[in-house]
Amino acid sequence: MNDREHDIYDVVGIGFGPSNLSLAIALGEYQAHGREDGISSLFLERQSAFGWHRNMLLPSATMQISFLKDLVTFRNPTSSFSFIAYLHASGRLPQFVNNQDFFPTRQEFHQYLEWAQNRVADRVAYGAEVTSVGLPPGTDPERADRLRLEVADAAGRRVVEARNVVVSTGLVPSMPEGIERDERVWHSSEFLDKFGRMDPAELRRVAVVGAGQSAAEIARFLYDELPHAQVYAIVPSYGYSIADDTPFANQIFDPAAVDDYYFGTEQTREAFWRYHRNTNYSVVDADVIRDLYRRTYDDEVRGTARLHILNLTRVAAVKRAGAETRVSLHSGPDAEVRELEFDALVCATGYSSMEPTTLLGDLDRHCLRDEAGRYRVERDYRIVTDPEMRCGVYLQGGTEHTHGLTSSLLSNIAVRSGEIADSVAARWLGRNAESALLAEVGGDIH
Ligand code: FDA
Ligand code: NAP
Repeated sequence: MNDREHDIYDVVGIGFGPSNLSLAIALGEYQAHGREDGISSLFLERQSAFGWHRNMLLPSATMQISFLKDLVTFRNPTSSFSFIAYLHASGRLPQFVNNQDFFPTRQEFHQYLEWAQNRVADRVAYGAEVTSVGLPPGTDPERADRLRLEVADAAGRRVVEARNVVVSTGLVPSMPEGIERDERVWHSSEFLDKFGRMDPAELRRVAVVGAGQSAAEIARFLYDELPHAQVYAIVPSYGYSIADDTPFANQIFDPAAVDDYYFGTEQTREAFWRYHRNTNYSVVDADVIRDLYRRTYDDEVRGTARLHILNLTRVAAVKRAGAETRVSLHSGPDAEVRELEFDALVCATGYSSMEPTTLLGDLDRHCLRDEAGRYRVERDYRIVTDPEMRCGVYLQGGTEHTHGLTSSLLSNIAVRSGEIADSVAARWLGRNAESALLAEVGGDIH
């Protein structure tokens, strides 16, 4: 511990992916427009540099949302942080428009995010992992007006204090039950890193588990990168199904849909999931499905099938010994058991939602939950806490049960960040008014 450990910020963001990057910009724009004169903020990111799902930056992967759903445009169409402003700064605006395509590659969008983060870098600490959030020792939880964050970085451990934290630590990779990751059994979130460590010549039989976008993109990548290999797709459905991005269904991602979900009845919410889960989960973009089908068909014409789609199949277990990876599969309508051997197995088996319980430690006791044990969250994304607690814990992610499908996606980050910035500013102004009043009567707001 050292002396720089007693900085107090109005907002500390935990995690610096696109959500908190968008918030950093929103807070900066508040400042620039003179709507307040000093909400101080710091963002802590455990990666050593900015990175947005780097291990899935496959060469031909495209974005799944329009470039207009960037970090800012839906909140402030005149922001200098828009994707269009980035294209202009890079000298590629006319060429981009000539493409007539709403969906840039993930690689180009990553470059945009890097360009944006570079412009707010003075408020970001990389290589800084928040290990816990709690109340400062001796604080009465009922009156707490600040939180204490423990941070591990290259210099050791330090403490940062915040009046509000915004937790945005992202999705958590999920493996099939009982299956451990190692040098030959990978989750899709580590794909390019693990793939890069292998000698491609050693990968003669590879398998990809799952029927979502990650699985389909990885199957296509392996097929193209390993022309000598047999590629197996272990698909729980009857082939890949399409992600519905038709206009009416796409309204589920509009900012207004958040209110419909948040203020809706249990029945309304249930309808959102029942009818529209296929806009995002266990589904694949049409062009990737067609790319894969084309490959299987062309192989058939040539008589050299090497992309094997194992439909109605789930992975049940994996036995590992040396270079050998023996995978037990349940296949077909009768769940027939069979075993196959692979040189590498990629589990593109999805993610679970952001879960801040561990991070919040003891503080979690002061965060209220609903009957199903999930956090109660205000419309402004602030966790409902003990009524007297004045410091705020906001969530960017982990709010699918209260705010709907966009919770873990990019579609709504510009508007959501604006709403969080508004909320912090409103409470900040309230606090200043209170402070002025107390100063008049000789009190102390802390
Ligand atoms: P994100 O996961 O991006 O960032 C969280 C950050 O927190 C990470 O950088 C992590 O290192 C950091 N962190 C975690 N714990 C920490 C700690 N204790 N201390 C400090 N830092 C910590 N959605 C969409 O709408 N359109 C799309 O095109 C895509 N594409 C896409 C591709 C792939 C491959 C995946 C896996 C997902 C998508 N998504 C998506 C969904 C995805 O959740 C979304 O794009 C964003 O990553 C959400 O941004 P966040 O900032 O909320 O989380
Ligand atoms: P996902 O959509 O949740 O898909 C996970 C898949 O794994 C499902 O098909 C699931 O089937 C299957 N699965 C789980 N356990 C299994 C088992 N034991 N055996 C066989 N299959 C199993 O996850 P994802 O594809 O990683 O997508 C996550 C998010 O990232 C989505 O929002 C997606 O749009 C996004 N993404 C975007 C891009 C891009 O922008 N280009 C790329 C990749 C991902 P069940 O449902 O039957 O369990």
